[in-house]
Parts: sequence; C-alpha cells; structure tokens
Amino acid sequence: MPAFTASAPGKIILFGEHAVVYGQPAIAVPVSQVQARAVVRADPGQRPGRVSIQAPDIHLETDLADLPGEHPLAAAFRALFSSLGVSQPPALSVRVTSTIPIAAGLGSGAAVSVALFRALSAFLGHSLEDEQICALAFEVEKLHHGTPSGIDNTVITYARPVFFERDREGNGRENKVELLRVPRPFTILIADTGIPSPTAIAVGDVRRAREAEPERYETIFTSIGEIAREARAMIEAGELDALGSLMDRNHALLREIGVSSPALDRLVRVARSAGALGAKLSGGGRGGNMISLIDPQAAQHVNQALQEAGATRTILTTIG
Ligand code: PMV
Repeated sequence: MPAFTASAPGKIILFGEHAVVYGQPAIAVPVSQVQARAVVRADPGQRPGRVSIQAPDIHLETDLADLPGEHPLAAAFRALFSSLGVSQPPALSVRVTSTIPIAAGLGSGAAVSVALFRALSAFLGHSLEDEQICALAFEVEKLHHGTPSGIDNTVITYARPVFFERDREGNGRENKVELLRVPRPFTILIADTGIPSPTAIAVGDVRRAREAEPERYETIFTSIGEIAREARAMIEAGELDALGSLMDRNHALLREIGVSSPALDRLVRVARSAGALGAKLSGGGRGGNMISLIDPQAAQHVNQALQEAGATRTILTTIG
C-alpha cells in the first residue's frame, strides 16, 4: 500500500496579533520556506488499531496508546478519528517532520495538525474539505494556546494570505475569513531571536493585564485593529509605501501591552537602521520571530546586520 503524504506551510502574522484574540482583525500569510510534513503508511504486520508515531524533531517515538491524552498529537488523532467515526483504525505508522521552529510564532503546531489531518484522512479514504481540516486544527490549537483566535489554523489550512476576524462566541464557527488580494508582491525578512516563547503564556499575561486595565487595553486593541484595516487597504491597492510605517506603529503598540522583549526590540531596531522599511515582532512575542519589510535589493545587507545582531535564523519570503 502506498504512503500518504501531506505538507503544510508555516505562517507569520503581518498585523494584528493579540488584538485578534479580542475581536479585532488581523492579517496573516503563509511561509512556504518552512513546512510540516506527515507520512502515513499501513503497517500490515501489526494488530489492527495499533498506531505507531515517529516525530524525530521532538524526539518522539511511541505508540499512540502510550501518549498522554493531553499531548497535542494524541488530541489530533482523537479529533480526526472521532470526526470520521473511526473506532479502530487499521494498523498504521505515522512519521511527522517539520522545519518550522517550535514556539517561535511561525505556526508549527497548526502546521503539524493540518499536515497530519490531510495525510491521515486520505489514508482512511475520506477526503476532508478545508473547512473541516481548519475546524479540527482549531480544536488542537486550544491545547497549544488555551484561547486561540483561530488565525494560525486558518492561514495554514488555506495556505493563502488572509484577513481574519474571530467570531464573538470564540467557537470558531463564525470566524470571518477573507482571502487577501496581493496585486503587488512584497518582501519580508523574518529573523528569529532564538528564544522559544510559548504563545499561551504571552496570551495569558495579556488577558490578566487587560482585566486590570480594560479601557487602556481596549484603546490599544482598537488602534491595532485600525492598523490591520489600513494595511489591508494598502496591500489590496498595491500601494505599499506606507506599509513599513504601519508595521512600526503596530510594534510600538505591542510593546505597550508588554509582549515585546529586549531581543525583539534589538532586532527590530537593527533591521530599521540597516534599511528595512518597517519592522515588528510577529506572533505571541516575548521571543520567537520578528519580521521586516524590505526592498529585495537591501535583503543581503539587512540579513547580514540581523545575523550580526544575534538572529539565529533568517527567512526571506515574498508575499503575493
Ligand atoms: O502562534 P503565534 O505565536 O503566532 O501567536 C498567535 C497570535 C496571537 O494573536 C498572539 C494568539 C492568537 O491565538 O491569535
């Protein structure tokens, strides 16, 4: 029997992280230079129901039955089997690999889920619509993030730039997802601080801070939402001149809510002084990645400056 393989890209949030959790819009784009991949094969020598899992990037080699129930991979299998009504799968082996750095704001958890759902559902003879894949990945995101907005699983499932607004109920069913038109491509240089930062912690801290100062946080989130709307209009009109300064403004607001860090601020500063048109942290913050808008001709110079300033990895990507 052949192997069933599927991949899913990483992602960055261009505008609107954190505010998106509270109903403001955000823009996210896929990053195809990094990918998660799942390969599912029948394992005919084994008893039915046995699922063996290899995930070398997280040093995991186990049977599904031996994984703790709250492990995101266990949750992913459970969600898929239950949605397809599979009580006992045939014996199978799954290998999950990923080049997406973990806890770095690039969507590694959602990408693993999406790749796994696609490969596994194809193996089981059910093809799932993107909408179903996205909803299943959202269930697993809850384990990674606590109260995710749903933007990661959405941009990674559709693998297209999206303008996203979460539904007020937070159950993911009424999210507003619009694919973004990008008539004029633009270049983003991503740089990793090398500091892993679980999103759930930053999101939890922001929630507590907002409870203590609701009006101040509402004002900041509203400003971030306006930036995301302005950015959308610019991107869709192909008028990119002021996009960099919107990134700078978004970063300043993210600093105000306490999700930047000295390492992120430093890379943002270095990128700007090396010629980037704008720069900000991307994703949960505190560590992980920053992004900068650059003229492709400046790529090498900005890249070198970021590496000299301590970036552990850079990725150059073109949007559109
Ligand atoms: O997974 P990350 O680190 O890119 O963070 C997601 C963005 C947040 O807005 C901070 C959280 C969310 O669920 O939208």
